[in-house]
Amino acid sequence: MRVAVVGAGPVGVASAVTAALGGHDVAVVEQRDDRRSCLAEGHLPFHEEALEHAWKALGSSVALRASLRDAESADLVVCCVGTPSLSDGSSDLSQVEGVATEMAGLPPAVFVVRSTVPPGTGTRLGVQLAATGHGYAAHPEFLQEGRALQDSVHPSRIVVGADEPWIHQRVFALYPGLSSPRLAVDIPTAELIKVAANAHLAMRISFINEMAVVAEHFGADIEVVAKGLGMDPRIGPSFLRAGLGYGGSCFPKDVRGLTALSRAVGSELRLLRAVIEVNLQQPVRLVDRLMTRLGSLRDRRVAIWGVAFKPGTDDVRESQAVRVAELLLERGARVVVHDPVVCAPGGLPPHVTWADGAIPALNGADAVVLATEWPEYRTVDPVTAVARMNGMHPLVVDGRNALCEREWVRAGADYQGMGRSQATTQPLGVGV
Ligand code: UDX
Repeated sequence: MRVAVVGAGPVGVASAVTAALGGHDVAVVEQRDDRRSCLAEGHLPFHEEALEHAWKALGSSVALRASLRDAESADLVVCCVGTPSLSDGSSDLSQVEGVATEMAGLPPAVFVVRSTVPPGTGTRLGVQLAATGHGYAAHPEFLQEGRALQDSVHPSRIVVGADEPWIHQRVFALYPGLSSPRLAVDIPTAELIKVAANAHLAMRISFINEMAVVAEHFGADIEVVAKGLGMDPRIGPSFLRAGLGYGGSCFPKDVRGLTALSRAVGSELRLLRAVIEVNLQQPVRLVDRLMTRLGSLRDRRVAIWGVAFKPGTDDVRESQAVRVAELLLERGARVVVHDPVVCAPGGLPPHVTWADGAIPALNGADAVVLATEWPEYRTVDPVTAVARMNGMHPLVVDGRNALCEREWVRAGADYQGMGRSQATTQPLGVGV
């Protein structure tokens, strides 16, 4: 098939590579010149290692176009543009609608929406596109940043929402030979599967973070609690890592977007509101802990290890590390940040200082906060680290429970994990 993929973000490039590997004739449509030049040189405009190798290996077999009109007529137009949050939490659908409008004058094709949209979007757009002879499919992606290629070529499931069986078949034909389970459903069902999946995962994270508050109070260890929970096959072990909470381009936006549907569905979505509230509170709780141990933070030097919203990406969108930096600065601290991949200051408050290594970031620091669990932080020698810091027992707040508590304590650090037994500093319920 001829496939035009609109939008050269991680979802678009992963979808294009997967379609090309499936033997289709693929064009990537990206309006930004800088992104197209970068792709033409064999690089990706974002950090995604395996995907970049796969893109390079395809060479020039994938065409690059500035607009849909410049692309050869396609059987499938795969829409992978952004749907950012508006100020009321609802999704800004203008980019998706823009691509749909652009299709109006083009030969009949199926408009395949991979962008995350609220339920109800496809039913409305489908009617509009049918008037100009196009079909519509909701085909959500479930890619995690940092493993976009793997999740795209080996998806956990292939969900296609459409009103007619031939449309389901045409979208499934994107994946010849893939053994992943296939689910042919109607359009709103496919849309809800996507946002409900993200809301459910976010809920598990806020749940375990709330349990961490209880664990701290009673001297339980949340890591072991999560292990014990995960052994129940009805619960399972994934997405139960306690810590600073979730960030990124999807969870915060999608949970907000679903909550913003309360009015449309005529019922308050209370559980999701609580999920958001707990997550917003995590950076505050962590900074409160610093204040409990250090007193005033004015002119205290605090290092933050990790800025990306999770390891394996250079994405700082809605990163909890950024929120921690903002809160520390508001309380008068001097903040030094380090990240193995993020080096551009964009997205961070202007008053932070950047360090060029994990150890240099610690020079004279009163405390270090591990905000992103990059593997390199686990290999830092605690004795060397503590020696660089200020005071006999400098504070090490492990916001992702990623460091070896025993080794850091042995090196003299005042180690504080999240929901770990040593960390009993606040009465139950404070700040939640
Ligand atoms: C997520 C979904 O996993 C993916 O299916 C969807 O398509 C897009 O959103 P991503 O944003 O790449 O993917 O990140 P993910 O790996 O899911 O992690 C999200 C956030 O949750 C990160 O900030 C991470 O640190 C945090 N997290 C994850 C936890 O705090 N605890 C956990 O147990 C798991």
